[in-house]
Amino acid sequence: MSNHNGRPLLEFDHVKKHFGGLFVTNDVSFSIHEGEVLFIIGPNGAGKTTIFNQITGFVTPDEGDIRFEGRSIKGLRPYQIARRGIGRTFQIVKPLANMTVLDNVVLGAFAHTASKHQARKEAEEILALTGLDRWRDMLAGALPLAARKRLEIARALATRPKLILLDEVCAGLTPTEAVETIQLLKQLRDRGVSAIGGIEHVMRVVMEISDRVIVIHHGQKIAEGTPQEVTSNPDVIEAYLGSKLEV
Ligand SMILES: Nc1ncnc2c1ncn2[C@@H]1O[C@H](COP(=O)(O)OP(=O)(O)O)[C@@H](O)[C@H]1O
Ligand SMILES: [Mg+2]
Repeated sequence: MSNHNGRPLLEFDHVKKHFGGLFVTNDVSFSIHEGEVLFIIGPNGAGKTTIFNQITGFVTPDEGDIRFEGRSIKGLRPYQIARRGIGRTFQIVKPLANMTVLDNVVLGAFAHTASKHQARKEAEEILALTGLDRWRDMLAGALPLAARKRLEIARALATRPKLILLDEVCAGLTPTEAVETIQLLKQLRDRGVSAIGGIEHVMRVVMEISDRVIVIHHGQKIAEGTPQEVTSNPDVIEAYLGSKLEV
């Protein structure tokens, strides 16, 4: 379990972001501590991906601050934020299709080492950990969806993140594939990597590995707590009316 003493690893502090007249992030605050797994849930269009895009520097907040290890990362470029130790996967999976699986992961490792030998060694370890070794020489574009999603995780892990952001990791996967992905996330947690996941629907398997869950609805945080607290919260159930709540 997470250690809630001391300074949070990441602080998302009263952040606001609007697109046109619409506040997509409306005064949202939360934090994550070292070793913790936090899930952000909310219906489609709630603003989850936009939160991820602000943490990783693809979108700059209008107001508020984002701090990582106590230092503001607001306004930094995505590569600068990656170098601080924040890795991510994308909701729309986009590995470099014309590179092999191995080379995709080697590229991730070059984020922290200039040694070709070291990068390859680490990439091979990560391919084994993520169950991708049998596909190592295949072109990434030829992989089935579930394997492409794992490759996204593998490539992010190769950068040696302190915090990894996983957007819709289980979307489009069969229940069996989703369980395999959850097993992988458990391994990451065992290795001390903190994680923030985003998902549209409340999946029991994901609930199992979250220390804490926050619920986003129309750009606002409407609930925060343990998975059990959040799924029994009337506001959360209300927000999901007309949507599918799987608990
Ligand atoms: N770059 C953008 N420009 C304009 N509107 C955007 C942009 N990115 C997201 N949005 C809008 O912001 C809202 C939240 O989107 P998003 O963060 O992707 O939600 P979620 O990931 O929860 O489905 C949606 O209404 C979406 O259309
Ligand atoms: Mg999204």
